[in-house]
Amino acid sequence: MTAKNNRIVSGMRPTGPLHLGHYFGVLVNWVKIQEEHECYFFVADWHALTSEYADPRRIKGFVPELVKDWIAAGLDPEKCTIFHQSQVKEHAELHLLLSMMTPLGWLERNPTYKEIRQELIQKDLNTYGFLGYPVLMATDILMYKPGAVPVGHDQLPHLELTREIARRFNHLNGDFFPEPAAMLTEDSKLPGLDGRKMSKSYLNCIYLGEAMEDVRPKIMSMLTDKNRMRKSDPGDPEICNLFPYHKILTDAGKCEEIEAGCRDASWGCVDCKKLLVESMTEFLEPMQERRRKLEENPDLVWQILDEGSKKARAQAQENMEEIRDLLGFKY
Ligand code: TRP
Repeated sequence: MTAKNNRIVSGMRPTGPLHLGHYFGVLVNWVKIQEEHECYFFVADWHALTSEYADPRRIKGFVPELVKDWIAAGLDPEKCTIFHQSQVKEHAELHLLLSMMTPLGWLERNPTYKEIRQELIQKDLNTYGFLGYPVLMATDILMYKPGAVPVGHDQLPHLELTREIARRFNHLNGDFFPEPAAMLTEDSKLPGLDGRKMSKSYLNCIYLGEAMEDVRPKIMSMLTDKNRMRKSDPGDPEICNLFPYHKILTDAGKCEEIEAGCRDASWGCVDCKKLLVESMTEFLEPMQERRRKLEENPDLVWQILDEGSKKARAQAQENMEEIRDLLGFKY
């Protein structure tokens, strides 16, 4: 049974400010999808506990910041439901029920589990909760019976597990959960400032909420074609860290000019950086404007989350009633 509906569910863990890599990898798609789908986007704060359990009170501060990033990026609470996982307690109940029928082997052979446990060895992820991460994720998704889930490639094994869990549930209890499809979002086409993947651990990010006065020096100190020692040397945009930024942020006509000017040495790197500062300002300005509006009224974000969680809860309660009934737990 594959889902044939228009509903979308996706979430992010509140673990820090979002950067342009998140924007061009995931958010830009969410913003598009909200126009023609019924969307549920949620702050996965219980998921953040898997790595932050030793200091859980830290998570709370990241919650409104994540929502601000989303809305600054263009999510519109009038068009999509933005909610808060831990405020829809039904997720905990369904997680328990699904955990009872999920074979351990499926979780143990999850490639993401093995990788991340190694990577974050200092956090000691040898916990029951971390092993069960994909069951909680399956819960978040199946609760709303969506047609599709927009995720990056890294989440594909989790989504496959979600479908397996849905199949197992259906096999044991009768058809109930449609199997959600992956709606793949491309890996971000925007590299970090140093040409590697943009990631906060590499210190090569521009954040969505970062002021231009902090962004400008980052751009001005980016490495360009390292073989181009003098302005009179011809350059190669293909090996320049800056050029991919122009390709995304500067209009196409201007990009052609830049490319030609770099190759025939009529256009210098400093000019190129100044132009990127301009394009970046144009790009970030509307986001910062939306963020300023949100910050004028600090309650607003919490109201958006409350309202969204109320809507999500109504949907979750309706489905949980049916699930309890199906399993003989309706008293
Ligand atoms: N696992 C996702 C991540 O780390 C976050 C997440 C939790 C999620 N539940 C989800 C994503 C449900 C999509 C659907 O980014």
